[in-house]
Amino acid sequence: MRALVVGAAGFVGKYLVEHLLEQGDEVFAGTMKEPVALLPSTTFPVDITDPASTSELMQRARPDVVYHLAGISFVPEAESNFDRALAVNVGGTANVLRQAHLFSKETQVLFVSSAEVYGQVLPSELPIRESNPLRPANNYSLSKRMAELVAERYQRQGAIRCTIVRPFNHIGPGQDARFVASSFAQQLARIALGKASPVLRVGNLEARRDFSDVRDIVRAYRLLAQGEGGVFNLGSGVPRSIQTLLDTLISVSGLAVTIEQDPARMRGPEVPELFTSYEKAQSAVGWKPEVTFEQSLGDIYRYWLQREQNE
Ligand code: GDD
Repeated sequence: MRALVVGAAGFVGKYLVEHLLEQGDEVFAGTMKEPVALLPSTTFPVDITDPASTSELMQRARPDVVYHLAGISFVPEAESNFDRALAVNVGGTANVLRQAHLFSKETQVLFVSSAEVYGQVLPSELPIRESNPLRPANNYSLSKRMAELVAERYQRQGAIRCTIVRPFNHIGPGQDARFVASSFAQQLARIALGKASPVLRVGNLEARRDFSDVRDIVRAYRLLAQGEGGVFNLGSGVPRSIQTLLDTLISVSGLAVTIEQDPARMRGPEVPELFTSYEKAQSAVGWKPEVTFEQSLGDIYRYWLQREQNE
């Protein structure tokens, strides 16, 4: 299987590349960032907002399956720069789909959307299933939903074989410190090493989200890309408050810290609770999450300890 990972140098992309190689796939990478260490001779530069650059990538990789992970993934970034979110998340996805279609109608594309497309979910609508209403509530979710519509159009016309995944929050070692688990773990690691005073800055601790481990998520991507297509939610199926995530990380670190709310970390109105049913993915390809919440957070904390020690 020739697999092309677009956005391969990002947090999830690196895990996906590693998993695909372990499974025996021939892997190619498209990235705007540095070359992927595991793929010194099959990483190609790409700007997905540029059709010519995206076309060149397809011609070089000649993929059977394209994993499209590239995009703006931090919700506040899309909020503050909607033009860029439209260009990359919508225009970039349209380019990837079109160029994959032009390369071969047989190419399977897995597009990574987001759980955020469900937007304003009512308590009576939980757990979220793929058939739930879609009510995007911010620039990020809007851009992801618009990209899904492009994918659905290609699929409806038989122009491409497409799978859309809607992952809920996924975490792991190596994630950008802007995201909540890494942000708290990095702060704790700095405190543990004496690099910061024992004060941890937080945003909204009341939101309840569905956290799973990135290693489980990339496993699902490969299984689903080999399936019949369709739309799939991916998550743990368990809602956890950000307060619980914080308490677990503090307990892993063994530190005594003061918690301070930082207004800069607070967002506009947020959906209070999001969690999924992963039944559809389970019945389609037998997937279920395996890495526990505690294991993920322990690994993330140790990653930051080591990284902060070396800096
Ligand atoms: N980042 C951050 N930093 N979030 C905080 C903090 C903090 O200090 N304190 C509380 N939070 C809350 C946020 O308000 C949000 O409710 C939750 O923690 C998770 O925030 P993020 O980790 O930034 O992720 P996200 O939920 O906005 O988006 C993630 O999940 C989506 C799928 O549900 C991202 O991975 C998206 O790319 C993904 O699509």
